[in-house]
Amino acid sequence: MRTPIIAGNWKLHMNPTETVEFVKAVKDQLPQNSEVETLICAPAVDLPALLDSAKGSQLHVGAENCYFEDEGAFTGETSPKVLHEMGVDYVIIGHSERRGYFHETDEDINKKAHAIFKNGMKPIICCGESLETREAGNAESFVEDQIKAALKNLTADQVASLVIAYEPIWAIGTGKTATADQAQEMCAAIRQTVADLYDETTAENVRIQYGGSVKPANVKEIMAKKDIDGGLIGGAALKPDSFLALAHYND
Ligand code: 13P
Repeated sequence: MRTPIIAGNWKLHMNPTETVEFVKAVKDQLPQNSEVETLICAPAVDLPALLDSAKGSQLHVGAENCYFEDEGAFTGETSPKVLHEMGVDYVIIGHSERRGYFHETDEDINKKAHAIFKNGMKPIICCGESLETREAGNAESFVEDQIKAALKNLTADQVASLVIAYEPIWAIGTGKTATADQAQEMCAAIRQTVADLYDETTAENVRIQYGGSVKPANVKEIMAKKDIDGGLIGGAALKPDSFLALAHYND
């Protein structure tokens, strides 16, 4: 049984004060007993406030990126070793904004996945095609190639424990959600790719999220799909009420 995971990706929003206020507003109303795992991935500068205020609650904490080296002369980067020491559970890697604006390659993403596991955390590996790729009919093969590259040399146990987020670029922040059927179709293809690369058990265990204009109004339909185990949510995860509605999609 895969535990559903509802995750906020705050991107470059929120400051430490707003972070503490957000957590105070949600922490006693989150789903209990791990029926739905909830997670906020915040800017690195907000992580101390997020970790401190979420302590003892059901809310997990994630970073939005890290480097693949633990330390060294890498000005401006974030150490996965230190993220783990701070108490961070997850790190998003390969978000389309990082691939697009910051030129991250599949190879970087694979190195980061290894570094995150080495440091006792779990990656949330993002993938997803542009509108141009989808319209050319190449969406599935494009995403499969991203997954193969990101998972290179990871063990089956590691893959079974990580999270993949399918985020079609054309649906991010545009208000244009992929239909639940489009999202399901791609998430099933991703699961099949994992089965082909590893085995059925690994594919059955890996959690796959959909991301791209998820909101309280459409989360239930998306989460009802067989191969969709969660959401990676930007805009609708910035307000406590909206995040709580997403987390309680099944109530
Ligand atoms: P929106 O939910 O704002 O479309 O963002 C999706 C996303 O990129 C989450 O990582």
